[in-house]
Formats: sequence, C-alpha cells, structure tokens
Amino acid sequence: MSSHPRPQIIETVAGMRDVAAHERAAGRTIALIPTLGALHAGHVAHVERAAELADVCIVSIFVNPTQFGANEDLDNYPRTMDDDLDLLGELGVPYVFAPSVEEMYPKGPTSTTIAAGQLGTTFEGKSRRGHFDGVLTVVAKLLAITSPHVVTFGQKDAQQLFLVRRMITDLNIPVRLEIIETVREEDGLALSSRNQFLNASQRDAATILSAALNAATSAADSGLDSVIAAAQGALMGESRAELDYFAVVDTDTFTPVPDGFRGPATAIVAARVGATRLIDNVSLYVG
Ligand code: PAF
Repeated sequence: MSSHPRPQIIETVAGMRDVAAHERAAGRTIALIPTLGALHAGHVAHVERAAELADVCIVSIFVNPTQFGANEDLDNYPRTMDDDLDLLGELGVPYVFAPSVEEMYPKGPTSTTIAAGQLGTTFEGKSRRGHFDGVLTVVAKLLAITSPHVVTFGQKDAQQLFLVRRMITDLNIPVRLEIIETVREEDGLALSSRNQFLNASQRDAATILSAALNAATSAADSGLDSVIAAAQGALMGESRAELDYFAVVDTDTFTPVPDGFRGPATAIVAARVGATRLIDNVSLYVG
C-alpha cells in the first residue's frame, strides 16, 4: 500500500459528468487516459504527458466486454485495481473513472454502435471481429462522459490509434488527440498488459517482434522488398512465435503500400507467443 493518497474513484456516469462539469466550470482543462487497467510504465508515460497538457487527469479503468470476441478470454484479462490505484496515487492522478459493465451498458451492448468500417476487418480486426467497433463505441462513450480537452492514445496500438483519430475527425469530436510513444523494455519488447502472461521462454521469444521491426528499419534504405525480406527472415528464425501478419502500411490509409512504394510508412507485426497475442509497429521511411 502506497503512502500517497489514492485517486477519487468514480463509478457512475452521472458522478463522472458532475466532476468533469465542476472542473470545467472552475476553468481547469481535463485530460482523459482511457485504459483497460493492469497499468504499467507505458501508462505512466501517458499520465506524465497528460499532466503537461491539462490541469486535471482522469484515468478510466474499464475492461470493455464489447471489444472482446467470443474466443477471447475476457474473464482472464488481468485486473489489478489495487496496484493501479497505488500507482496513480503516486503519480498524483486525482480521478479514476471505474464504472461497472452494468453502468456502461445498462441495457446490454448498445443498439447504436460506431462502425470501424472496412479497416475494422483487417489486421487486428481480421482475427478479432467486431473488436474495433467495440473500441470506438466505448471510446465515444468515454469522451461523451468525461468531456476532456485532451485524450491520450498509445502508438503501440497503431490500428486503434488510426481508427480513433479518424472517428474524432469524422464525428467532429472536440478533443485533442495526443499520441504517446511506445515504451519498451531494454531488450526492445513493447510494454503491454499481456506480457505478464508470458513464461520465461515465451518472454524471450517475444523480443522477435521488435527485432523484426528493427531489421525492417535497417533495410528501409534498400526498398520495400528488402524491408519485407528482412522482417520475415527474422520472424522465421523464431519458432516459438507464430506469425499472424507483418505488413508495411500507408501512414495515411493504414492499407498495405503498393509494390515499389517509397516514402513514409508504418511496419506492423502481430504474432502469437504461446497463447498470448502480441503486436508492435514502427514508423520508417522506405527509400
Ligand atoms: O487500448 C485500450 O486500452 C482499450 O482499447 C481502450 C482504448 C481503453 C478502450 O477500451
């Protein structure tokens, strides 16, 4: 138990709206950090940046069932509320919005949903059908409930970031989207709440994602074919990781770049290590 005061926990939509309205009326700006909980150093980077951009930080902790598929283990998603509250207290976060599923979805999944469209069916959306509709819908609800001036999203979930940015633009949602760079372990592994499911051997194998992205970046000057060959070569050398996809996507459309492409792009990778699905990405310039 930490000696720092824990944040105030708000569990109801009405209570959260009241707090946000009070802060706004007092002339204070609000930053929202939406999370599924199980906080780690990656989330700390969000809080630190949010504190630079707004007067008051709200961290939402809500394991949103509508973004989990039937084959995904919603019940096993790590829930570490006590530790999360200690950490946020140490960081000086004043408010945590932690509603129940019933509070967020009193009549079950909403009849109105935000559709991610075609992009919701590719890459992460291909193996996780409906995932991005669930994400966009809950993010829209969280924004409506907390009315923040700023919302932070991590670069690590590149497709989610792309879709949230598009939703904010398409729906004219009055919020600044702040992108937080991926935080990595010393050996390159991107921090993720899911890393805690990895045993020692799997943890070792998981570094292949960032290693493949590094190989792709090193080959970028030699063109797209070299980028793909370098990444695939690295990935094929790690039998403990089962590759789902590696792709180089257009930064503006999140669709695969055409043959012979040159310019700025994002290399994305997803692989299963044991039962744990991991993703990572890097920005590169294909020469
Ligand atoms: O990236 C996440 O943690 C979740 O998808 C989010 C944005 C909190 C929505 O539930």
